[in-house]
Amino acid sequence: VPSLKDVLGAQGIEHVGAAIDARETAGSAANLMRKHFNAFTPENAGKPESVQPVEGQFTFTQLDQLLDFADANNVQVYGHVLVWHSQTPEWFFKDGSRDLTGNPADRALLKARMEAHIKGIADHINARYPNGDSPVWAWDVVNETIADGDTANPHDMRDSRWFQILGERYVDEAFRLADRYFPEAKLFINDYNTEMPSKRADYLDLIRALEARGVPIDGVGHQAHVDVARPVQWLEDSIRAVEKVNPDLLQAITELDVNASTENQGADVGGAPVDPYSPAFENDADAAAEVGYYYRDLFAMLRRQSSAIDSVTFWGISNARSWLRTWPMARPWEQPLPFDDDLQVTPAYWGIVDPA
Ligand code: XIL
Repeated sequence: VPSLKDVLGAQGIEHVGAAIDARETAGSAANLMRKHFNAFTPENAGKPESVQPVEGQFTFTQLDQLLDFADANNVQVYGHVLVWHSQTPEWFFKDGSRDLTGNPADRALLKARMEAHIKGIADHINARYPNGDSPVWAWDVVNETIADGDTANPHDMRDSRWFQILGERYVDEAFRLADRYFPEAKLFINDYNTEMPSKRADYLDLIRALEARGVPIDGVGHQAHVDVARPVQWLEDSIRAVEKVNPDLLQAITELDVNASTENQGADVGGAPVDPYSPAFENDADAAAEVGYYYRDLFAMLRRQSSAIDSVTFWGISNARSWLRTWPMARPWEQPLPFDDDLQVTPAYWGIVDPA
């Protein structure tokens, strides 16, 4: 079958990636990876809890394994993630057992930790690649800064510990530090539900403010964890709206998958699920077909917008490895990706490659 990176590359999408961990660096999953993708995102290996579980103790074993794979196969890496509220150890926000507050000393401490974290990663990468040939072409500098609903914060920003202690400008600080320590990388802001009209408005509002303040942001990420009922048009509207803010901004689809569950707003807003998820279709074949049609429509749109889209990353290669199978509960019916449990192509793959 045709290679996704060739098909999409010919349509103007330069980076075609998937989220991976060490399991995709060997055996048939690695072969599939090499054939279809020219980039990847470390699914968990680059997150704060993986890289610096204890203050000052950086651990790069997992990330290095993936970078070894990138070097051996000449593929690029989308770095994920420098500053986030999730999968970030509690120690970032504490002084001993005391929670940090917004007082000047605590703010200075948290900013110093943000810098030490970003610098620690950069030092490691610079030491690995003394000739400046790092495969890490981009970074998610801040992830999921906008809340799903309304908050009392500017731009409806999420009331995370980062926000509570440092305020809106924690985002500016993260980009300035990332720019200092990763001067060659493209620096992205990233979020989910960016296709939802109300969250789109808040995301754009923040991006405009960052641009107006001269923050060194290069790109805007749309995670695109979507479901079969979500209009593709919404994501197209978001891509065009970002382009209107500044046509020089890069845009990436950073975590694409398509779920076949009934909507669950409780989980979407980050709380405990209100109701358990349930399958949106009677059987697995129907779900696979509908996901395939969704991919067909989505990629028809991405082809229309390919001059704006620099990178598309699937959140996993094969259905068996998708986080949706286990998050936030067991969901064996999910078939969100272009390859199935046995690494064979799915209707999603054909929706992308052969849209007829
Ligand atoms: C997910 C991973 O896929 C899971 O393995 C992990 O348990 C939780 O995080 N938004 C993001 C990603 O930015 O980092 C998340 O990845 C999915 C949602």
